[in-house]
Amino acid sequence: MCSILGLSSYHDVAPTLVKSLKKMEYRGYDSVGVAIKNESDISVRKGIGKVNAVNDNLHMSELSGHTGIGHTRWATHGKVTAENAHPHMCNTDSIGVVHNGIIENYVELRQDLEKNHGIIFKSSTDTEVIPNLLQIHLEKSHDVKRAIMDTVQKLKGHYAFVALFKTGELVGVRNHEPLILGISSNDLLLTSDVVGLPENISSVIYLENNQFVIIDKHKHEIFDFDGEVAQFVVKTIPKNYQNITKGSYAYFTEKEIFEQPKTILVAGEENDYDLKKIVEFIRDSDYVYVTGSGTSYHIAVIAKYLFSRFAEKKVEHVMASEMKYSSRYIIPNSTLFAISQSGESADILESVSIGKKKNAKILSMINSKNSALARDSISSIGLNCGPEIGVAATKSFTSQMAILYKIADKLCDGCLAIDFKIVSDAYTKMLSNTSKIQELAKSIKHIENLFVIGRGIHYPIAKEGALKIKEITYIHAEGIAGGELKHGPLALMDSSTYVIVINPDDDSYVDNASSVNEIKSRDAKVIGISNKPDPNYDYWIQIPTIREDLYPLIEIIPLQLISYYLALERGIDPDYPKNLAKSVTVK
Ligand code: G6P
Repeated sequence: MCSILGLSSYHDVAPTLVKSLKKMEYRGYDSVGVAIKNESDISVRKGIGKVNAVNDNLHMSELSGHTGIGHTRWATHGKVTAENAHPHMCNTDSIGVVHNGIIENYVELRQDLEKNHGIIFKSSTDTEVIPNLLQIHLEKSHDVKRAIMDTVQKLKGHYAFVALFKTGELVGVRNHEPLILGISSNDLLLTSDVVGLPENISSVIYLENNQFVIIDKHKHEIFDFDGEVAQFVVKTIPKNYQNITKGSYAYFTEKEIFEQPKTILVAGEENDYDLKKIVEFIRDSDYVYVTGSGTSYHIAVIAKYLFSRFAEKKVEHVMASEMKYSSRYIIPNSTLFAISQSGESADILESVSIGKKKNAKILSMINSKNSALARDSISSIGLNCGPEIGVAATKSFTSQMAILYKIADKLCDGCLAIDFKIVSDAYTKMLSNTSKIQELAKSIKHIENLFVIGRGIHYPIAKEGALKIKEITYIHAEGIAGGELKHGPLALMDSSTYVIVINPDDDSYVDNASSVNEIKSRDAKVIGISNKPDPNYDYWIQIPTIREDLYPLIEIIPLQLISYYLALERGIDPDYPKNLAKSVTVK
């Protein structure tokens, strides 16, 4: 989602702001802008496009001034235009605002501001009401703190914003969207994401909901929305979240795919205590609901297969965005296991608040132990895979899956006894020779439709593979349970159709043979992902032979690679697929 920044320093802030915006671009990248306070006023530069391109054009980093704000946008209200890019100024140009989230009542507020205060709006965003409300309230009270309190009283929705005042104050406000204050001897930085922190800042305060911070003359004070001074804890950010680079890789997506032989070995291993707690809660509950969005939802589906097979637990998976439509079925003594890489997706946070109302115990699996989801849970386990920047989830998916296996193993008192070194070695083998997949990508780069089929636990892997293909190649792809082919999708098969069949040599192999025959009879092409060759395959992507129940962990690798190389063949930047964002903090 949008990234918001504010920086107060003893030095010019524009170069640091632009650098941090570049690092946070994965949250939204359709437009970018900064506002910098100089001696007499506030200068704004903003435009459509990615940070480097806009900076080359508008020289945002050359502005001088010791206090400023910045933004990268993922459009929600108003098209992608320079006018709609942030920062937005109030009518008197004395307050600038960058915002993440949605102001639900902006239409009423806008009408009131136009009618009763003569405000002229320059954009079609919901954001622009904020600087104008701040300015009107400041004019009345002549007090920044009061103006913030009066403004937040008027706003409805989930939002975080940073406001820059011509008088020099910098203010950060948090209401359900993330906002972090970074502190060093020279700088005070407000950011929606720790990834935006400059290298010299490792001490942070996570603002709680309904809190705001006022930064003035290098001092900061935190208040709640009633104006009471708030308590806070200063935390230290792990080193691997600072200065994240692509290293020798061309893209973060590539780097993150190739990191998996290492990340799979440490999944959930920050400490053994978290895993034990999660297992205890699951064991003690009568029913387990597992929820997530996108890739994390596919993990929820895998949880059902794993926990019911190995732990004989009653498990139901629910898409986070669908939770409110099925919440009435949450039975007493249930656990809601919420899966999310970011821990900030609006849908997952909403599903958790619904679960809480139904007295479900909230457990979570997240990559950031400081995320809102972690704070909403009674127990949470970290993926321990390091920051993931590529919009399409890759290493977080395999880490999430590995943790599910570990939970299942503990639930069945060690019946699985997995040596993850075997999985890691299989990854290394597949990643060390990708030439066949690159050739495949070259030969199918012009296709418009692709199906991915799998049965049993391989079905959610098929869904995940199809999602990767959709996200970064823009080819229409569908993940289908193999047995369902004959109930509809076969109508779409002809000689121009390609079907990827996830076909490891396990209990799904025989049934898949029927699917392959059905596909071939319609002249469609089969790409088999399997440890065994089959004359029916038009392309065979070989995976290593491994213990039968571990195939889901390894068969996703060729699907990630097919997506990645197809994206390159089609000239798409896999790190920044159009219209998507890494962490979607709006509903
Ligand atoms: C966005 C991302 C997806 C991700 C989903 C859930 O849609 O583009 O890649 O799977 O959010 O994110 P989460 O952080 O909750 O796992």
